[in-house]
Amino acid sequence: MFEQVTTAPPDAILGLTEAFNADVNPNKINLSVGVYKDANGTTPVLGTVKEAERRLLETEKTKSYKPMTGDPAYGKLVRALVFGDSHDLVAGGRAITAHTPGGTGALRVAGDYLHRLHPEASIWLSDPTWANHNGIFTAAGLNINKYAYFDASINAVNFDKMFDSLKQIPAGDVVLLHGCCHNPTGADPTVAQWEQLGDLLAERGITPLVDFAYQGLGDGIDADAAGVRALAAKVDELFVCTSFSKNFGLYNERTGALTVVCKNTDHAAAVASQVKITIRTNYSNPPAHGAAIVTTVLDDADLRAKWEEEVADMRHRINGMRQLFVEKMHALKPDHDFGFIVDQRGMFSFSGLTREQVETLKTKDSIYIVGSGRINVAGMTESNMDALCEAITRVL
Ligand code: LMR
Repeated sequence: MFEQVTTAPPDAILGLTEAFNADVNPNKINLSVGVYKDANGTTPVLGTVKEAERRLLETEKTKSYKPMTGDPAYGKLVRALVFGDSHDLVAGGRAITAHTPGGTGALRVAGDYLHRLHPEASIWLSDPTWANHNGIFTAAGLNINKYAYFDASINAVNFDKMFDSLKQIPAGDVVLLHGCCHNPTGADPTVAQWEQLGDLLAERGITPLVDFAYQGLGDGIDADAAGVRALAAKVDELFVCTSFSKNFGLYNERTGALTVVCKNTDHAAAVASQVKITIRTNYSNPPAHGAAIVTTVLDDADLRAKWEEEVADMRHRINGMRQLFVEKMHALKPDHDFGFIVDQRGMFSFSGLTREQVETLKTKDSIYIVGSGRINVAGMTESNMDALCEAITRVL
């Protein structure tokens, strides 16, 4: 059986971390995978997560199965975070939420659901997008297309081109939008542009699927949701894939959610029944621990306030590193303008480094950056910044 098996290429992002872990250089720097590092270069467990775990250890009474779509209380808290506490979608009815293993799990459940119920529908991805979007939706069997998004000549979204490209999409297809902190570019549409997108998608009968993995890491918990909220005000139907990997630091607890907004409660009930089948035939029901942590924190006013502070600390550190990087690069290489890095948001920026430059940084300096030139700003620290900027100056 296994004689004919050929070796698959390493994953574009996680494969680099495998290589990083195997690198013996004590000064190595990992700016590849989207994992937050504090000023000491470690990925801490949030204080509010530790406190929630302490409480759960004392109160947990069973390890019995969760419902296929998870606890309704968790779903409601997810919707409150996405749409805002007082939004009419929070109570349920038109919107259903399934607790999934991470944001990737939510994307895959959405992909499988679409393939099973709408096999003729294509999914449209931004150019560029997170490398695994292609992998997930290909594995789900969907047709994949791309729409214009980032313009490297201005290091920003080319909204006119994006809009024109979305206008060509046939009714019944699905468009994947990054809710905030676009991965890999760090460049997002403005709220006014989100409103225009909502009008266009509603008018053309195209369903948005929002990948919402970085809420809180751009400009704030509510500010980062402004795009998806603007969309929800315009369209009747919407998918939202939430991840708590980054804003709760729950990377290895695989904690996410798929929310589906429908036109009415009858549609929502039917969709929920189909989502359940998709989940049952994938992983049966979700892993409990991460969602129990999120529920404990979001449901307690004191813990929630502390969590918001912890998210703000992460966000401020990332934005501080953006500033420091630009200043250091300006001092070392004044003819090369990296100013755009300060305008971008979230963990990532498209540095403009070529594949060759990225390869040289890896082999000569043990600096790991995704081949596309995407850098994880959250991996920069005051201690590694000099070495990083000097190495980048050498390859430019
Ligand atoms: C990333 O883009 O680095 C993160 O979303 C982690 C991952 O799974 O790729």
